[in-house]
Amino acid sequence: MRLAASTWPEVESYLKNKNAFILPIGSTEQHGPTGPIGTDYLCADAVARAAGEKLKMLVAPPLCYGVASHHMGFSGSVTIKPSVYQALLVELLHGAYRQGFRRFYLVNGHGGNDPSIHAAFQELKHLGTEGASFELLNWWKLPEVAAFARETFGNEEGSHATPTEVSLAFHLEQISPRAYQKVPEGPPFAWPLSAAEMRRAFPTGTIRSNPGLATPEFGKQVLEIASSAVVRAIENASFLD
Ligand code: NI
Repeated sequence: MRLAASTWPEVESYLKNKNAFILPIGSTEQHGPTGPIGTDYLCADAVARAAGEKLKMLVAPPLCYGVASHHMGFSGSVTIKPSVYQALLVELLHGAYRQGFRRFYLVNGHGGNDPSIHAAFQELKHLGTEGASFELLNWWKLPEVAAFARETFGNEEGSHATPTEVSLAFHLEQISPRAYQKVPEGPPFAWPLSAAEMRRAFPTGTIRSNPGLATPEFGKQVLEIASSAVVRAIENASFLD
């Protein structure tokens, strides 16, 4: 069930029996020379929508932009600064809380958003959102997805523009596999990095990954594994009732 395609009477009726609100969030940032710039939000949205269908829960339109200042040295990346992103999440989720939603699941596709998400959750509780629970689900870190990535790609998975997420983006956007030439990367760095530091350390925009292994066929598998993993995580979530 998608919020974007629902009418208000349908949402009113949904809220009589359920109060779950699934929000896909990601980023619009470079994903190496072969990965689509929308990878993070495209993946989060597809995983959330597939999970929402299985759970018969409402999935909100995705938040397509995120905290991505370290990617700004690569064309096409855009970013929201952490404090504003935190405030944006608070406004969005507090608005949904006022509508009667109580179980909030953020299906996230971008690790750079994490600190602001946690800060937003804290601020929402500071505001006194009684009876609400807020859960962050980083889809690629869910155990089933991490196991698939490890078994399929091993050390070539890396941590940005990974073959797992690029495969899913290829599947969603019907893109054929693209050749990728690995280049030497610098030693481990302390995070976060500035845009210039990131470009210097990781010249192609990938981080320890080999997106040349990505295929749409793997992506189809990733979508099934990841959406099932989100379903399991939501079904196992515990609340203070
Ligand atoms: Ni990504």
